[in-house]
Amino acid sequence: MPLAIRIYTRFVFLLLITTLVFGMLSSWSYLYPEIFNRYLPFYQLRPVHTSAALFFIISAATLCIILFNRDTLGRNATSGRWEQLFIFTWIATILVIFGYYGLKKFGGREYWEFPGWLAFPLLSSWTFLMIGYYKGWLKCADKKPLYIWMWSTGILFFFLTFIEQNLWQIPWFRQSFLRELTVQWKANGSMVGAWNQMVYGSSLFLMVMISGDKSIARNKKAFFFYFLGLTNLMFNWGHHIYNLPAHGWIRHISYVISMTEWLIFISIIQGFKNKLTEARKLRHMLPYKFLLAAEFWVFANLTLALFMSIPAVNRYTHGTHITVAHAMGTTIGINTMILLGVLGYALDIDNKIGAGRKLFIRSYRLAQGSFIIFWLSLVLAGILKGYRSVTLNITSFQEMMEPVNKVLVAFSVAGIGVATGLIIIVIMYWQAAGKSQSFVKVDK
Ligand code: HEM
Repeated sequence: MPLAIRIYTRFVFLLLITTLVFGMLSSWSYLYPEIFNRYLPFYQLRPVHTSAALFFIISAATLCIILFNRDTLGRNATSGRWEQLFIFTWIATILVIFGYYGLKKFGGREYWEFPGWLAFPLLSSWTFLMIGYYKGWLKCADKKPLYIWMWSTGILFFFLTFIEQNLWQIPWFRQSFLRELTVQWKANGSMVGAWNQMVYGSSLFLMVMISGDKSIARNKKAFFFYFLGLTNLMFNWGHHIYNLPAHGWIRHISYVISMTEWLIFISIIQGFKNKLTEARKLRHMLPYKFLLAAEFWVFANLTLALFMSIPAVNRYTHGTHITVAHAMGTTIGINTMILLGVLGYALDIDNKIGAGRKLFIRSYRLAQGSFIIFWLSLVLAGILKGYRSVTLNITSFQEMMEPVNKVLVAFSVAGIGVATGLIIIVIMYWQAAGKSQSFVKVDK
C-alpha cells in the first residue's frame, strides 16, 4: 500500500483519538472551570474537539472512497497523483489549523474556527481530490451502483457548500448580521447533507460487500433514498435556521424530508439483514456490529427528532443540551459507527484481530453502553434546563443550571466510557493497518 495511504489512514485514526480526548477534556473543563481555565479553558478545547470531529468524519469518508475506487470505478486511486496531492495538502492544512488553535488564535465561524485564509488551501486540496475522482468516474463504464452516485454527489456538494460556508469572507455578506447568519447556517446544514452522501454511500458499499447482494445498491428503494438525500442536502437547512425569521412551512417540509430519509435508511438496513446468510455475517462480524449500532442510533435520533419537532416540546428544548444530543447522537451514533464499520472491513479486521477479538467486543460494548448513558444524560439535561427556564422562569443562570450540572457529571463520566471503548478499537485498527502489505481486502 502506498505510503500516502498509510499516512492518511493513521492520520484519520489520530483525528478520532483527538476528538475523543478533547471531548472528554471539554466536558470536565465546562464543569470545573476553576481547575481548567488557567491552562485548558473550555473556549479553547471546544473548537479543537468539534473541528477534529468534523475533520475525522470528512477525512475517513474520503479515505473509504479512495480505498474502494479500484473496485468500484476500476481505477487504483490509492496510487493516484491527484489523491496523493490531496492527502498531503489536506493533512498539512489541518495541522496548521490545530497549530493556530494551540496558540489560541481563532477566526472563521462555528465549527471552522480558524483564520479565514486557511479555507483556501483546504479548498485547493479538495479540488485535487475532485480531479482525481472525476477522472476515474468519467472513464468508468458501470456508474449504476448507488454508492457511486452518492460519493460523486457528496464530493461535489462538499466543494459547493464549503465555498458557501466561506461567503462571510466577502464584505457584502457581513454588512447584514441576518444575511450572514442565514447563509452560514444554511451552508452548515447542507454540508452535513454532503458528507452524509459520502458516509451513507460507504455504508451501502459495505452492505453490498458483506452480503454479496449487488441489488442493495441498485434497486428502486435505494434510488428513492438517494433522491430524498439529495433533496435533504439542498433543503434540510430549513430546520437549521430556527432562530431566523422564516415561514413555518419551510421548516416543516425540511423536517419531514430529513425524517423520511432516516426511515428509508432503516428499511434498507433491515432489508440487508433479512437477506444476509449466517456464514457471511460470521465472516464480517465486527463491521456488521457497527452497522447494527448505526441502525439503532438512526432509530434513537429519529425518535428524538420527532419529539423535538412538536412545537410544544420544542419550546422547552430549543437551544438546550438536546441540540447537542442531536448533534453528537448523529455524528457519533450514525457517522462514526458507519465509518468504523467500513474501515474495519477495509482492514479485514475479522481476520487480523486474532486473540484480540474478546477485547474488541468488550470495548465495543463499553462504547455502546456508555454512549446510551451519554446521550440520555444530554437529553435529560436539556429537558431540565428547558423546564427550569421556561416553566419555572428561573432567571439566575447559576440557579437554573444547578441540577443540570449534576446530570452533566453523568454525561462526562459516560464520555470516559465512550472514549475508552473507541480508543481501544482504534488502537486495534492501527495495529491491523500495519500487519500486511496490502491491508485492503475486497470481497467480490
Ligand atoms: C466520535 C466521537 C465524537 C464526535 C464525532 C463528537 C462530535 C461533536 C459535535 C459535532 C459537537 C458540537 C455540538 C453542537 O454544537 O451542538 C460536539 C460537542 C461537544 N462534545 Fe463531542 N463528539 C464526540 C465525542 C465526545 C466525547 C467522548 C465527549 C466526552 C464527554 C464529548 C464532549 C463534548 C462536549 C462537552 C461538547 C460541547 C457541548 C456544548 O458546547 O454544549 N464528545 N461533539
